[in-house]
Amino acid sequence: MAEVLAAPRDGPLLEDPRTWLGTLTYRSEACGRPSPAALRELVAQARVRNRRLGITGMLLFEDGRFLQVLEGPPESLDAVWSSIARDPRHRRIEVLNRSLLPVRIYAGWDMQFFARSGHSRPAAPVGERELAAEQAEAVRLARRDAAEELAGRLIALVGQGLAPAEVVGRVLEPAARALGDLWLRDEVTDLELTIALGTLQRAGHGLHLASARPPVDRTHRPCILLASAPGEPHLTGPALLADLFDEAGWDAALCFPQTDDELVGELLALQPEALDIGLSEAMPRARALGPLAETVRRCRAAWPDDGLVVSVGGRLFAEGRAHAADVGADVARRGLTGAVDEVARRVEHHRLVCACGRQRRLPI
Ligand SMILES: Cc1cc2nc3c(=O)[nH]c(=O)nc-3n(C[C@H](O)[C@H](O)[C@H](O)COP(=O)(O)O)c2cc1C
Repeated sequence: MAEVLAAPRDGPLLEDPRTWLGTLTYRSEACGRPSPAALRELVAQARVRNRRLGITGMLLFEDGRFLQVLEGPPESLDAVWSSIARDPRHRRIEVLNRSLLPVRIYAGWDMQFFARSGHSRPAAPVGERELAAEQAEAVRLARRDAAEELAGRLIALVGQGLAPAEVVGRVLEPAARALGDLWLRDEVTDLELTIALGTLQRAGHGLHLASARPPVDRTHRPCILLASAPGEPHLTGPALLADLFDEAGWDAALCFPQTDDELVGELLALQPEALDIGLSEAMPRARALGPLAETVRRCRAAWPDDGLVVSVGGRLFAEGRAHAADVGADVARRGLTGAVDEVARRVEHHRLVCACGRQRRLPI
């Protein structure tokens, strides 16, 4: 019987578990060297049963190792998982994530299968060259709207030891910029760029759901509102950041306002400790700086006690072409990775100065 190495505890029960799907991600080692025909047969049989039981997901086979994401009604998932866990065709099964999902990520895929080069090298740390290849692949898959396949590759990178936040910062974020460069060279249209960015966003969310851990147990979950700059059509940055903040134990709310008034309305309704406003991660929106400064001013004016941490981001800031002070923000993200720590530091600072009754800002 296959040996199960580790199984993190289940996530918390959600309000109505009957409407949620179970999801399980694991990796394992193949016993022997399965031939392409044996793999095809395994997948074909799995698909028949998965279709019958309402299971969807993805199976990756690379260098003698499997990585699989399964999702479906909890009782179906339990049935399939109990078969897989005792299947003698693999061993050293390690459960990476087991939780509940509100929606299917792999809708329409009774088991999407990817096999990559069969030469057996040990799982090496991911190097710069491999990351560059993953970025290029992310651009290619985003242009084909292949979010599930891209999510599979991202999950595999986590299987190789990269943290999800690193995958976002070192693959998805550069891919968004590369897509912006294609637009600047007139190689993709506005619409193609927006669709491709949406694909990056969906793949990033798939990665988040497949690798999410049970929420950090905290009495106080700090709250952040993540907004696209009013009217900004590229939503990738705030959406990816929402997952990163959620992973770090924040209560992260998203909004995509069309006007400053809409954003201020959301802010007043939510009363968060921090607000992040994102310009496009793909395009350098130099002309958006003036309107963004006005947006920040309006948001701050809605907070008379100066208790709101405001961060801004997007390609313009990531490339150092604009700074927090240019728009009156506290923080300008130099990228998506690291944003959580930086905002947390500012929020903590605000708490301290409020507790001391002093209002002194950190130098930017
Ligand atoms: C790596 C791997 C992945 C598998 N994935 C699935 C799957 O997604 N769905 C499925 O029904 N069986 C899958 N199987 C096959 C099951 O382990 C099992 O052989 C099959 O479901 C028949 O179940 P039974 O042996 O309990 O009759 C997989 C097997 C392996 C080795």
